[in-house]
Amino acid sequence: MSGARVGFVPTMGYLHAGHTSLMDIARPQCDQMVASIFVNPLQFGPNEDLDVYPRDPEGDAEKCVAHGVDALFLPEESSFYPDGFVSTVHVDRLTEGLCGAKRPGHFDGVTTVVARLFGLIRPDLAVFGTKDYQQIAVIRQMVSDLALGVEICPGPIVRDADGLALSSRNRFLSKEARRRALTLNACLRAIGDAGERDVAALNDIGKAVLDVDRLDYLEIVDPVTLQPLDTVRDDAQALIAAFVGGTRLIDNLRISRGDT
Ligand code: PAJ
Repeated sequence: MSGARVGFVPTMGYLHAGHTSLMDIARPQCDQMVASIFVNPLQFGPNEDLDVYPRDPEGDAEKCVAHGVDALFLPEESSFYPDGFVSTVHVDRLTEGLCGAKRPGHFDGVTTVVARLFGLIRPDLAVFGTKDYQQIAVIRQMVSDLALGVEICPGPIVRDADGLALSSRNRFLSKEARRRALTLNACLRAIGDAGERDVAALNDIGKAVLDVDRLDYLEIVDPVTLQPLDTVRDDAQALIAAFVGGTRLIDNLRISRGDT
């Protein structure tokens, strides 16, 4: 593949239209497109859903072919992390809040697997979804700090017609839980639509429409530093993580308040 521009879409499989949208973004920007499917144990906490994480390797392979993937990397855990593997990539600061605070060690698992995938595949370009807003910020920081030379390209959040962000974990939702899961996006939209700059007031507006079993966080942060804001001056990012019927879901939305 020397001279060819390599595009890469890393995933944990059980592919949906959010994943394939990333392939559609990569395809016209590269000569060879690689996708990976690896349910990375390092990024799951001890009480999380690693054992039941959904898998569909055959359906995934068909979707990859349909979206122009040239090579699908499906490593076994024992060969991906061979005996003697002892390195961890840790990104500071950006990992302190939000999902980093609620899922200790999660982002170390993500940056370690992505660094190793980049080392194995050597892509010129990699596409990540903004559905995982903090994840893409952390990966950009890693690529910059470690001079990995991979262009990181963001893909917009793909949603069902009713606003629910697509996620492999949505399959765990009962009909009733799915209805309540819609309130994550409704909460973010209520915050986005409110003519209000005060973050405490915005949080109250958002929480009023939420119907979840446990709220992990609802935060309005600077879109670059991910530091919490007290007042929205121009652009901000509203992020939410919540449990509905035992399933942890995340969503986020850019909110803008012009300075006038
Ligand atoms: P996974 O959850 O499978 O997601 C793979 C990629 O698809 C990520 O970049 C994620 O942001 C993107 N994605 C998921 N749902 C999306 C949606 N509704 N719209 C747009 N993009 C969406 O994220 C991971 O896997 C892992 O952490 C990984 C980066 C592969 C490292 O193990």
